[in-house]
Amino acid sequence: MTYCLSDSILYNSTEKMKVNPIFNPGGDDRIEARSIWFGNTTNLMQLNDVRYSWAIGLYQQMRENFWIPQKLDLTQDVTDYWNLTPEERHAYDGILSYLTFLDSVQTCNIPHLKSSITAPEISLCMAEQLSQEAMHNQSYQYIIETVIPSDRRSAVYDFWRTDSVLRDRCEFVAGFYQQYIDNPTTETYFIALLADYLLEGLYFYNGFIYFYNLASRMLMPGSADIFKTINRDELSHVRLFQRLIPEAMQVFPHSVDRIYEMFDSAVQHECRWTNHIVGNDILGITETSTEQYTKYLANMRLKAIGLEPLYREPKYQKSPYTHLERFSDTKNQAHTKANFFEASVTSYVMSSGVSGWDEI
Ligand SMILES: [Fe+2]
Ligand SMILES: [Fe+2]
Repeated sequence: MTYCLSDSILYNSTEKMKVNPIFNPGGDDRIEARSIWFGNTTNLMQLNDVRYSWAIGLYQQMRENFWIPQKLDLTQDVTDYWNLTPEERHAYDGILSYLTFLDSVQTCNIPHLKSSITAPEISLCMAEQLSQEAMHNQSYQYIIETVIPSDRRSAVYDFWRTDSVLRDRCEFVAGFYQQYIDNPTTETYFIALLADYLLEGLYFYNGFIYFYNLASRMLMPGSADIFKTINRDELSHVRLFQRLIPEAMQVFPHSVDRIYEMFDSAVQHECRWTNHIVGNDILGITETSTEQYTKYLANMRLKAIGLEPLYREPKYQKSPYTHLERFSDTKNQAHTKANFFEASVTSYVMSSGVSGWDEI
């Protein structure tokens, strides 16, 4: 295994990861003393002068994305649910269950990552991310309560108990986070950060595509509206980690080979689960398109953190689902793209547009 060493890596892999004190009167909050990890923050949220100004712009954008699930109309979905094929209904329930797991585990894990962050502007973004992940769980509950018949609702939450592929999937995803909890070193922290990036950047999207695909056939439009809004939130989390991972690569011991291994096993697990729950039984999705899309996403996420694409064939350089763009509303990029790196956004926008299709 190749360890990437540079002068800027300060910590050895077995060093225990430090958790910030609640209040540190001896800390130094000056910009020049600030760093994302291993800084000496007082733990006051001193945001007048920030070192990472991109985080202020990102936070503002995340706040402007504010939305309330119950304001989105699911009336047609209640009827449509019974017009789905049995395979489509099974996939609908299973994907809902899987996404509930993802946002549950995020709600649980983000505080652990955040507790070692020493730049308050980054903590700000993670606090908002945590709030959004929790709210995503509430939106799944809203869908389950509204669309799923009462006698099937518990089964959605308990899907992993009876579906061994989903259970394996959940254990794989949670395992990287648990490693850090069990043994909180600089090495396991970096792995947990990368696992978060994989979750935000790779694991949601075959599920989103399933709902956009139904919407393209005039089915379950309310569900698609909710997922495109969650999609927009998740892309802001992807952007946060696209900033954090390259910074982390400067200070944490890590192995580039290990990063590629994690990406490849993440792709395999994602394809295995999607083929299990969607497979070739849903019009518009095949095991081939799932593989192409997942590898395309992995390539894009690698490039975004400064690494080479893992899957070199031309077919993995483009999305097989560009025809679904209009259902994700991701063509509406201007707002996000224009303001992303600026901290001066003052308008309040309640928009359902999802920006950044190119990055999905
Ligand atoms: Fe989420
Ligand atoms: Fe997220």
